[in-house]
Amino acid sequence: MGNVSDNDVCRVRGERNGELRLQIDGISTFYGEAQALKDVSLEVHSKEVVAILGSNGAGKSTLVKTLTGLVSPSRGRIVLDGESIEKQVAHEIIRKGSACVPESRELFGSLTVRENLELGAYSLPNAVRKRVQAERLEMVFSLFAVLKNRLKQKAETLSGGEQQMLAMGRALMANPKLLASDEPSLGLAPMLVAEMMSTLRRICDEWAVSLLLVEQNARAALKIADYVYVLERGEIVLEGACDEVIASPTIQAAYLGG
Ligand SMILES: Nc1ncnc2c1ncn2[C@@H]1O[C@H](COP(=O)(O)OP(=O)(O)OP(=O)(O)O)[C@@H](O)[C@H]1O
Ligand SMILES: [Mg+2]
Repeated sequence: MGNVSDNDVCRVRGERNGELRLQIDGISTFYGEAQALKDVSLEVHSKEVVAILGSNGAGKSTLVKTLTGLVSPSRGRIVLDGESIEKQVAHEIIRKGSACVPESRELFGSLTVRENLELGAYSLPNAVRKRVQAERLEMVFSLFAVLKNRLKQKAETLSGGEQQMLAMGRALMANPKLLASDEPSLGLAPMLVAEMMSTLRRICDEWAVSLLLVEQNARAALKIADYVYVLERGEIVLEGACDEVIASPTIQAAYLGG
């Protein structure tokens, strides 16, 4: 078992690879009087897939919304590539290089696949938009070939799995350095979950996009993540290198329901 520190976070030490890309430091977020995040601190490095695990209501989506400027933290700092972003609004944060795929996917159902993808690139500066958009489209097609054949189809008529791919593709169109993905396995059949997870790993390894992977499906996320944090009732209760967590049935039983 890892070391238990003063504030009761279990830490299973492991090496972090790459430069520090995202640092969340002491974030607290409230909805009215209710506190959804309590003093949450975590890091994502440049070559990492970092998993955020936790059960229903743990605060995972609130963490993603706080990171992407959809809700404001009352305390703490969020630093992306050395720059504080916790007071910035969503479209500024996207421009700084942090994109997200929300839990609800938020596609424009009556627009086509192509239109949804193109909207993902709206935050790019005018001078480079055309070139980057074309490059990014090729990238998205290399990751999700099925989208290429469905460019004229309305998003609302895609299957659940295809919609998840489109939501991911649209986020990648913004040319992010960091991608936060909230429950990408939600509603997918087991085979599609495995496929989605290996695509996320490719996005990190081949396209140099650091990943914050929010999942209730711990087993699937642990297969591809480098480092893991577990949230419980708004607090980080465990952090550690993924291989250490996988190697410890005791830790899994205590924090991940075995
Ligand atoms: N808009 C909101 N207004 C009030 N409370 C909210 C709001 N959104 C979330 N909460 C509360 O904040 C807590 C954390 O919710 P959150 O959606 O972040 O959890 P989660 O870990 O993503 O859960 P799930 O696995 O079910 O998606 C919950 O108690 C929830 O009821
Ligand atoms: Mg959620």
